[in-house]
Amino acid sequence: MDTLLAPLFEPLRVGSLRLKNRIVMAPMTRNYSPDGVPGENVASYYQRRAEGETGLIITEAVGIDHPAALGEAGIGESDLPHLYGEQALNGWRRVVAQVHDAGGVVFPQLWHQGVMRRQGTGPHPQVASMRPSGIWGLPGGLTSSPDFYVQSQLVPTQPMTERDIEEVIEAYARSAMHALECGFDGIAIHGGHGYLIDNFLWSVTNQRSDMWGGSRRERSRFAAEVVRAIRRAIGPDMPIVFRFSQWKQQDFKARLANSPAELEDVLAPIAEAGVDVFDASVRYFNRAEFPEQAGPDGEMNLAGWAKRVTGCLSMTVGGVGLNNGMYDSNKQGGAQASNNLDLLMERFNRGEFDLVGVGRSILQDPQWALKARQGQAFDPFSNEALSGLN
Ligand SMILES: Cc1cc2nc3c(=O)[nH]c(=O)nc-3n(C[C@H](O)[C@H](O)[C@H](O)COP(=O)(O)O)c2cc1C
Repeated sequence: MDTLLAPLFEPLRVGSLRLKNRIVMAPMTRNYSPDGVPGENVASYYQRRAEGETGLIITEAVGIDHPAALGEAGIGESDLPHLYGEQALNGWRRVVAQVHDAGGVVFPQLWHQGVMRRQGTGPHPQVASMRPSGIWGLPGGLTSSPDFYVQSQLVPTQPMTERDIEEVIEAYARSAMHALECGFDGIAIHGGHGYLIDNFLWSVTNQRSDMWGGSRRERSRFAAEVVRAIRRAIGPDMPIVFRFSQWKQQDFKARLANSPAELEDVLAPIAEAGVDVFDASVRYFNRAEFPEQAGPDGEMNLAGWAKRVTGCLSMTVGGVGLNNGMYDSNKQGGAQASNNLDLLMERFNRGEFDLVGVGRSILQDPQWALKARQGQAFDPFSNEALSGLN
């Protein structure tokens, strides 16, 4: 057993579930599910991570049962999976069965692209994209999206109607039921990165004057209602992980909260609706979120603050085992393995967060968790891992 990393191998109870360790495979889009259906290759890919002793696998983002959930969102999507229809559900049943046979635990990440979906794309090109206020974002935001995409997205559209909102919430609940039927062990919700749930949280994309807009707490109502509907569908015990981010693909510098009190306004209503774990999506786990805070609090990262202001469990992510964050590595041609695990463990041992999300390192090396336990060297990272189904 590696002594530095040994604390990561303390089991954790989350709702009714026991995780054997604290290492979570972060959700990563793969584009390997033609017609939305994950095949044998996808099942084996997740099985390898379960065999590699990953404590919890969160799948790639999976389209919910709503016609505008998926399309092209400027990130080179093609074969995105969804969570409805017999074929896709059978595909997911196979994924779950293979992960379980290998001793793993797996949650699907429920996804609705919201304003990021390009009109006229995806499995139902005729339906309108769902935008809370018809707005994609502001021009001039720091983004890595291609210019043609940004220009077309900046054209305003109709805001979502009350009926649209109800239908999307029902679709989340229905998809959670489908996940339950497939045998998944819990639900992860994509509430970050500029997609639908985040569109309600962010003041730029939510300018509504009805009950779905207003103050931070009011803008959290949609996220809370989604969580509540899922909770009703799956019952009280099954864990719910909620991912959120300050940054948006429309603007990497965007923020939902500038202080711990503002973060509490955003997250408290969502926590009360029935979340077990907040997954705080940042690109570098080792960055202070509110450095102006006095004393040791000034060091704490976003996952630490999510835990502090909600009392829920939390998960960190972002550059674990790597020297370059996700977007920086795309720009700069790659990332290298880094010995930042001592910095990670300082934070973990202080109790800042309970779970550690590992993204690209686990894409590269399915045995990452097993090697962490045994103190073995990890495979060196190469950008090729980003596009394959290793
Ligand atoms: C290829 C790739 C696909 C991703 N797809 C998703 C996704 O579907 N949903 C999501 O919430 N985050 C997604 N992410 C972000 C990761 O979950 C993670 O937060 C990010 O990669 C930072 O972790 P890392 O530095 O360990 O890679 C993706 C990242 C990568 C590299």
